Amino acid sequence: MKLWGGRFTKEENRLVHKFNESLSFDQRFYAQDIRGSIAHVTMLAACGIITDNEKETIIKTLNEIKEEIDSGKLVFGNEAEDIHSFVEAELISRTGDTGKKLHTGRSRNDQVALDMRLYTRDVIDELAVLETDLLKELYALMEKNLDTYMPGFTHLQKAQPVTLAHHLGAYFEMFIRDRSRLKDTRERMNYCPLGGGALAGTTYPLDRELTASLLDFNGPTLNSMDSVSDRDYLLELLSDLSITMMHLSRFCEEVIMWNSNEYRFIELDDAYSTGSSIMPQKKNPDIAELIRGKCGRVYGHLMALLTTMKGLPLAYNKDMQEDKEGAFDAMDTVCDCLALFTDMLKTITVNKENMENSAKNGFTNATDAADWLVKNGVPFRDAHGIIGRLVLLCIEKDISLDELPLEEYKKISPVFNEEIYDAIAMKTCVDKRNTIGAPGRKAMEKVLEKYKDLIS
Ligand code: ARG
Repeated sequence: MKLWGGRFTKEENRLVHKFNESLSFDQRFYAQDIRGSIAHVTMLAACGIITDNEKETIIKTLNEIKEEIDSGKLVFGNEAEDIHSFVEAELISRTGDTGKKLHTGRSRNDQVALDMRLYTRDVIDELAVLETDLLKELYALMEKNLDTYMPGFTHLQKAQPVTLAHHLGAYFEMFIRDRSRLKDTRERMNYCPLGGGALAGTTYPLDRELTASLLDFNGPTLNSMDSVSDRDYLLELLSDLSITMMHLSRFCEEVIMWNSNEYRFIELDDAYSTGSSIMPQKKNPDIAELIRGKCGRVYGHLMALLTTMKGLPLAYNKDMQEDKEGAFDAMDTVCDCLALFTDMLKTITVNKENMENSAKNGFTNATDAADWLVKNGVPFRDAHGIIGRLVLLCIEKDISLDELPLEEYKKISPVFNEEIYDAIAMKTCVDKRNTIGAPGRKAMEKVLEKYKDLIS
């Protein structure tokens, strides 16, 4: 059934219907559509626009329709243009003239604006839970790896020793920011557009405050033209999601490297790796690679919607129907990636020894060795030169600084004594760095204490 059939005489061309319809993808927010309609009729009755009996009949039937869709008893045919028309037509077929009153004082323009907001708000709440699960997992890994020494890198060259806890802590910070960005977006979008009508409000004495509070919004939106044409909140969400994907992608890149034969810092569980059809030795980190790869489609959806919105005159235009598929795909993708990534982290094996050896073999303690000389009276520039020569010697012998015998140290500078070995031990190098934010155990423990509240 066409809601606007009266004005049209010719049978709608099939291709036009297929091109124009949105039911195939907006059916996913049927629950939000029905929730919005129930709030709308509750408000209509409270304002005396429909009777209490009519309200009861409509709500009862809408709830039945929802249950039947939930259970699969009622299926979406391909007749209706969108979910709004589908639900309304179904209501009218069951309740006749009473059902025809549902759309009083409402347009599909403010209805779709409401439904998409309700749906997006629900997904944001789901995303916040997934982000918190990830933060909890990272926290647990950090607690376990306060003394798992590893090289910290700059330019992908081994630089100074850190710990795995400290490295993971950098991601913890990123995901905390991601979660708070989502919270900001939710706060800003949490105003109810219903009552905006087609674009210019309505002549019915609607109580928009009531509708807004029934749907847990902070209040009604304040400009009816903006109510039906604002998609900023989706752009904000897509931008938040793009940043989260970028963070996940960077993390996955490291997981992929650390899991490689060259690094062997971690080992991924079999469930998160796959074999090769030809090379028997392979255990590929497919899941991490796919998460990294899916970053592109989320960025793409952000660009697509920005471009769709650019140049649209006020108020509603059908172009805006294009906001949905990309946004849904981005939401699905990020929910899946967060859940999978968290599970993957839960099952990794950390190879502490390899991490620490890699830090030693990369001379990440060279700065600390120079600092030791400085403390023993050698000017820094000279100390830098002395350690440089020692590093060269170690490279020739293919050993690390702590494997070099004391005589060799002394040959290059008589200042050296036994204490040098303690000074360049990974534990010493890391634990001396105790300003807040640094990798030293004491500093990390303070930070972990602060994080506790954020994940409870
Ligand atoms: N399916 C439409 C959308 O998603 C609903 C609003 C239709 N309004 C209209 N005037 N054609 O944007």
